[in-house]
Amino acid sequence: MVKVAVVTGGTRGIGAAICEVLHEAGHTVAATYYGNDAAAKHFTERTGVPHFKFDVSAFGACEAGLAQIEKDLGPVDILVNNAGITRDGFLHKMTPEQWTEVLRTNLDSLFNMSRLVVGGMRDRGWGRIVNISSINGQTGQVGQTNYAAAKAGVIGFTRALALEVASKGVTVNAIAPGYIDTDMVRAVPESVLEKIITKIPVKRLGKASEIARAVAFLTDETSGFITGTTLSLNGGQAMV
Ligand code: CAA
Repeated sequence: MVKVAVVTGGTRGIGAAICEVLHEAGHTVAATYYGNDAAAKHFTERTGVPHFKFDVSAFGACEAGLAQIEKDLGPVDILVNNAGITRDGFLHKMTPEQWTEVLRTNLDSLFNMSRLVVGGMRDRGWGRIVNISSINGQTGQVGQTNYAAAKAGVIGFTRALALEVASKGVTVNAIAPGYIDTDMVRAVPESVLEKIITKIPVKRLGKASEIARAVAFLTDETSGFITGTTLSLNGGQAMV
């Protein structure tokens, strides 16, 4: 059945691959973004998936943005909370802004977006929420106390919400990608990234499309018995 899907941070990297796979599955897809206008324009030209610009870290902006999406496309059945940023630095040098920006974008956004669509999913008796966590929320990572805290929080949020909506036909799951070949990972200093790749048993970065496949699976009509889980897709780097 055709559903309306919203993917935050959907115009680049993992989010763009998720939009493409949901679009190919026949869903009506909306990609949200906040930073890069040129990338959003190019994404829509390439895929035909419309983009909506708003700040997922701000509740009011999400209210307005989702109202526009629902007006244009209809009520949201599938939400993929993918938007995320890094502001890496050792804790002894980290600024309050580095901490707050990451927590707001990577974790508060889950509250903002899910809060605004979960009522409708409950009422209609069907919904799929997928939250993108990270291997670094499971294992920790040098320079990422902010990011690891937010991504670990994503897993707790997923489990708690999954329990709340399990009897309403709504599933909530997390995916914890390892190091995927995206702009975010390519921003890691080259010498550090080389060290990281040597520790990945499959000896390569993951592809965004490999994460998107898992989102397609979790959001499928037939996946109603899978809820509250975290799928770790990391090339064997952490078997959690
Ligand atoms: N793994 C292993 N060693 C690391 C490391 C990592 N991720 N990050 C830093 N180090 C090591 C460095 O190699 C260096 O070691 P040596 O002294 O032996 O050379 C030491 O820590 C200090 O590092 P820097 O000299 O780079 O110190 P800095 O203060 O200039 O910068 C830093 C510190 C900001 C943490 C920088 O090293 C950095 O950006 N590291 C990458 C952190 C990282 O892995 N981020 C993941 C981003 S991708 C992502 O988050 C997506 C996802 O979900 C997986």
